[in-house]
Amino acid sequence: MADLLDTSRSSCRLLVTGGAGFIGSNFVHYWCDRYPDDRVVVLDALTYAGNRRNLEDLEGQDNFRFVQGDICDRSLIDQLLREENINTIAHFAAESHVDRSILGPAAFVQTNVVGTFTLLEAFRQHWEATGRLDSYCFLHVSTDEVYGSLGLTDPAFTETTPYAPNSPYSASKAGSDHLVRAYYHTYGLPTILTNCSNNYGPYQFPEKLIPLMCINSLIGKQLPVYGDGQNIRDWLYVGDHCSALDVVIHHAKPGETYNVGGNNEVNNIDLVNMLCQLMDELASDLPVHPCHQLITFVKDRPGHDRRYAINATKIKTQLGWMPKVTVKEGLRQTVEWYLTHRDWWEPLLSKEYQAYYRQVYVS
Ligand code: NAD
Ligand code: TYD
Repeated sequence: MADLLDTSRSSCRLLVTGGAGFIGSNFVHYWCDRYPDDRVVVLDALTYAGNRRNLEDLEGQDNFRFVQGDICDRSLIDQLLREENINTIAHFAAESHVDRSILGPAAFVQTNVVGTFTLLEAFRQHWEATGRLDSYCFLHVSTDEVYGSLGLTDPAFTETTPYAPNSPYSASKAGSDHLVRAYYHTYGLPTILTNCSNNYGPYQFPEKLIPLMCINSLIGKQLPVYGDGQNIRDWLYVGDHCSALDVVIHHAKPGETYNVGGNNEVNNIDLVNMLCQLMDELASDLPVHPCHQLITFVKDRPGHDRRYAINATKIKTQLGWMPKVTVKEGLRQTVEWYLTHRDWWEPLLSKEYQAYYRQVYVS
């Protein structure tokens, strides 16, 4: 393993954007458990995907603060950086769902591109005012989707794979990645970029494949598989993503980029069948049993990327990180979480959600 950077980031005053969303809230729990002496400030606009309940057990703790606000609001960010003396930003806030980006790309450009730019510019001025320390860190949490789509036999994405985003979501994330890169090269801002594969686990909004299939099985609704179901994703349990971000924040050199993946390539129909088996086994009162009867092939997503796969050799050899949770274990834990958290997901099936659902699956 190469030299780990011995950073003075041992004490973080952390601003977590998007900390009320899926990965952000898992990360905030992870961080508060592991580093109780660090200060954690969450900035989240609470869009449809943000849920303050995800963080309710932390409310009232001395080291934790929640602020509702937009990453495009420059004066709010300036104020938070100054008054909390922030030295680390973990930037998760984004519009994150491909199907929504097809229906309405404008919000993706606004939050993902303009929002990231606003944060970078505010953090640059804060970092310059406080002495340009390398121990400062802007971690930009991005996706493997910026690399585009692979054929079945293509080698997995590495950190040098050229960008070729295909959806408005991935294009907006690619734009934000380029800004992050430019702020390191131009201003020397200590940035780190991670490009991660598909996450799954607790607190994921039921528009993404895995929670949607779990919840639809529980309410007896069709399990819509796009196209021929042969699209491949590399699945990473969200806790493993959090531990990767931990090593990156503590040990990566400024300006570095790391790919993060689960080494778990599965095609969609196999994944949905695995979920159905778990449901049949773990849920006692399924409306339709066995639940694979609900699987329905539906029209394909426009521009649907065929395959993503991550080569995570760099983070393994340089920082010693590897995923720990297999798809088999992670899916079981996830299904159990949705089974025992009906009170979390039932309120999310709102009128807005039903309208979104009809637009994607019925029209
Ligand atoms: P999510 O949609 O669950 O959460 C996004 C959060 O950002 C929400 O809490 C939302 O309220 C907040 N937000 C949105 N717009 C905002 C704004 N303008 N200002 C402040 N807050 C705002 O997303 P996620 O799945 O947790 O993804 C988090 C990050 O990780 C994203 O940047 C995403 O691109 C990246 N990522 C996600 C995956 C995945 O599989 N989910 C994989 C790789 C990378
Ligand atoms: P998703 O969870 O939306 O993540 P992403 O598109 O960012 O990879 O989708 C994962 C895969 O599952 C993707 O190939 C699209 C497919 N999919 C379906 O077949 N049906 C669905 O209802 C959804 C939401 C996704």
